[in-house]
Amino acid sequence: MDVLRNRRILLIDDTPSIHEDFRKILTPPPAEDGALDGLEALLFGAAPKPMQQAFELDSAYGGQEGLAKLCQALEQDRPYALAFVDMRMPQGWDGVQTIEHLWQADQRLQVVVCTAYSDYSWEELLERLQGHDRLLILKKPFDNIEVQQMASTLTSKWQMTARAELQMHHLEQLVEQRTSDLQRTSSALRQEIDERKQLEIQLVQSEKLASLGQLAAGVAHEINNPIGFVSSNLGSLAGYLGQLEQMLGAYRQSEEAIAAPEIRKRLQSLRESIDLEFLREDMPLLIKESKEGIGRVEQIVKDLKNFSRVDSDQQWQLANLHQGIDSTLNIVANEIKYKADVIKHYQELPEIECLPSQLNQVVMNLVVNAAQAMGEERGTITLSTGVEGEQVWLEVSDSGCGIDPQHLQKIFDPFFTTKPVGQGTGLGLSLSYGIVKKHGGQISVRSQPGSGTTFRLELPIRQRREPVPDTAA
Ligand SMILES: Nc1ncnc2c1ncn2[C@@H]1O[C@H](COP(=O)(O)OP(=O)(O)O)[C@@H](O)[C@H]1O
Ligand SMILES: [Mg+2]
Repeated sequence: MDVLRNRRILLIDDTPSIHEDFRKILTPPPAEDGALDGLEALLFGAAPKPMQQAFELDSAYGGQEGLAKLCQALEQDRPYALAFVDMRMPQGWDGVQTIEHLWQADQRLQVVVCTAYSDYSWEELLERLQGHDRLLILKKPFDNIEVQQMASTLTSKWQMTARAELQMHHLEQLVEQRTSDLQRTSSALRQEIDERKQLEIQLVQSEKLASLGQLAAGVAHEINNPIGFVSSNLGSLAGYLGQLEQMLGAYRQSEEAIAAPEIRKRLQSLRESIDLEFLREDMPLLIKESKEGIGRVEQIVKDLKNFSRVDSDQQWQLANLHQGIDSTLNIVANEIKYKADVIKHYQELPEIECLPSQLNQVVMNLVVNAAQAMGEERGTITLSTGVEGEQVWLEVSDSGCGIDPQHLQKIFDPFFTTKPVGQGTGLGLSLSYGIVKKHGGQISVRSQPGSGTTFRLELPIRQRREPVPDTAA
């Protein structure tokens, strides 16, 4: 059944005989010749007469009673589609007042004003009742068919309006749904774009590292050779020097025994002119310094090599991160001990699959950086660890100088350093970044200039790698 079907009509008129008339017109007794019609149709092939549609008619004899009936009907969710309202009702509200009240209660109600003569001009009437599109005027004496047509047209109109409203509502819901779908899609899209940007940045970073890695590998290889022989020559030189020294000492001692005074004199003046004593003191120092210099170059080349991973012949293994951290702290103890206290907040960690010596190097870089960030005042370096899902994390926090926001973007760049020549190479963090990426992990930083910096590492407990095909088979 059509839920929007509504044939309910309310008649408000103070004259009882009018009600009888309407009842006759709008609710005729069910046609008894229905069966006959059917027979007729069967015999003569004529279409059966359409059944006159019945209306449900309620009566009220004054405006107030009409309003009460309307409100009651609304409460029962059985609204009237149409009201016929008499214009002249000497008791209580007149037609216009009644209609105003009815519309206040239900705006959808279609109304027919029934009138023989009116206290209002038509213009006044229409002016007062602003609902022209729901209002018809029926002049008395009225024609039966006119009443019937009005009833049928206006109840249909009510139904169509209700249907249109329902559809409108449905459409609005659809639009709402689509809009929210769209919003969801667009926010998902935005998130994807963000993720892509992030990936791009990472890609650029790894590209940079990769190309620098190749360069570094080449340079390291080239430099390694000369360093090798300079350093070994320095070693030999130091040895030779010692021997020369002995030889010189022997000559010195035998100098007194030389008989010819002019030879002795020449030796003495030569010795004074070259300041032999100074040479003897200074030469070993020069060699020592040179060795240190070469040592530094060697260290840089080693960093570069590590960085380019040319000699990454290490094995993946299960290792205890805390052990690694602790041994690294021991190694760098000298760098730290005059600058900061180390505080540890370790949680229990599972062993992780990693390249332990490389991770140690990361920890070392972070800890040394933290120590180097300290000013005159003694500070603290806090190492915290923990597990989160499939990952372990390590945070290295310091109370140092912090990082200038404009530098934050660059600190992982190779060769970016804010430290004086000799103290910083700018390779520590980019090296660390490469190592962490190789482990499938993340390294991030947050910093408050003036109050400190925290680096956070996140490392998967197990590596996800392609299974290596069994070559022995
Ligand atoms: N804990 C820290 N506090 C302040 N600045 C830091 C810290 N760690 C790194 N930095 C900044 O990042 C730069 C790059 O660090 P790094 O790659 O280790 O190179 P280096 O230490 O040789 O300069 C440093 O020069 C410094 O400016
Ligand atoms: Mg560093």
